[in-house]
Amino acid sequence: MLTTMLGSMADVPKDLMQEIKRLEQLFTVDTAKLKAITDHFVKELEKGLSVEGGSIPMNPTWCMAFPTGYETGTFLALDMGGTNLRVCEIVLTDEKSEFDIIQSKYRMPEELKSGTSEELWEYIADCLQQFIESHHAGEKLDSLPLGFTFSYPATQDYIDHGVLQRWTKGFDIDGVEGKNVVPMFEAAIAKRGAPIKLTALINDTTGTLIASAYTDTKMKIGCIFGTGCNAAYMENCGSIPKLAHMNLPPDMPMAINCEWGAFDNEHKVLPRTPYDIIIDKDSPRPGQQAFEKMIAGLYLGELFRLVLVDLHDNKEVHIFEGQNIDKLRKAYTLDSSFLSLVEEDPFENLSETGDLFQNKLGITTTHPELELIRRLAELIGTRAARLSSCGVAAISKKKGYETCHVGADGSVFNKYPHFKQRGAQALREILDWAPKKNSKEEDPIEILAAEDGSGVGAALIAALTLKRVKEGNMAGILHPENFK
Ligand code: BGC
Repeated sequence: MLTTMLGSMADVPKDLMQEIKRLEQLFTVDTAKLKAITDHFVKELEKGLSVEGGSIPMNPTWCMAFPTGYETGTFLALDMGGTNLRVCEIVLTDEKSEFDIIQSKYRMPEELKSGTSEELWEYIADCLQQFIESHHAGEKLDSLPLGFTFSYPATQDYIDHGVLQRWTKGFDIDGVEGKNVVPMFEAAIAKRGAPIKLTALINDTTGTLIASAYTDTKMKIGCIFGTGCNAAYMENCGSIPKLAHMNLPPDMPMAINCEWGAFDNEHKVLPRTPYDIIIDKDSPRPGQQAFEKMIAGLYLGELFRLVLVDLHDNKEVHIFEGQNIDKLRKAYTLDSSFLSLVEEDPFENLSETGDLFQNKLGITTTHPELELIRRLAELIGTRAARLSSCGVAAISKKKGYETCHVGADGSVFNKYPHFKQRGAQALREILDWAPKKNSKEEDPIEILAAEDGSGVGAALIAALTLKRVKEGNMAGILHPENFK
């Protein structure tokens, strides 16, 4: 039976109904709270730019211009995301905002995420070399400029330099935090004699901002809502007190990688639930990435799992009674795509969700249990989308953007059901927009699907850097010899 209405709660027994109500209270973030979070967020963005600093790193990236659409050249891009490694060759052509791309994806083996630093760089260099060998077999290549998308918080004193502040997204590789990752990467490349010179180390959000602005000049913010979450935007050097000692022209642009996943690490405003506290405590970096742990793809399935295990273990609540829930007890056994499937179940009786629980977890569910499961998925997914919008609203408020486009990428943004609509609704509430006159009307601030930031964005930032060096702007360049 396919219906458009949600299943009925009529047969849900009192204990489960009470739990649904409790979960609704725990996970719902109302308009007033969204506004309070946003106001605090604005202050924290400012603090991150100050000399004293705050918990949001607000990293200057030395990407100092938006593209014009007329950048040209051939570039390599290496994208080290949370799940995959991707190598691309990008040709920015003479046609405005046009490019050609070839790319190969390599899975990041799970063991690598908690292995040694050497294993990581060797693996990366092998993938790059394999890419060059398969696409340029027998050719004699001049060194190609490479944009390396390293999507972790890094302090950049230069664009060809980056000291890893801390691993995020569950990575825990010894010997990298606190070090400049560029020489480690370069050493592994040099060992293989691969014809590559690193031109720019970039963050996926900065790449997203620049790639999106390449085709749409209204783009002012780049966001990732994926395994992790974060945003970048263009600041003026004069508004970055922590760079004042460099005497850069005050109106010179500088992209800032906010690293907003660290927002509210001191737990002042975010409405954390006991489940958020467990996620943090059991993570490889407790106390870090408070905001990210409530909204990013890596954690949504785990939150859902923790709630269900807690309910099962509560003697007052009767859920999955008499069943073996060993599979459900395994940490990180459910990812956000599981939650997406629950939210996408089109059937009144939630039979697809029932099948999922049976097949993946060996748990047989009753209809009332399925109703609770569905509601829980909605609550977790909705909270993630609504909190995400506080970050977008905060940057917009800080910069005084009343209208603009925001480029967003990542698995949660692209694949999680209703994420976009829920996020847009929250922005409307936070920024007090009047209701739309018709469905075609754009919102003043629209969050749109971005261009490929980690590939094309990395190439564009490499191109922009080569260009500005040629024009004599040597700010934030460590190895000028690589820019000849
Ligand atoms: C990282 C950011 C990154 C984001 C999205 C976070 O965990 O710290 O650097 O932009 O994930 O990939």
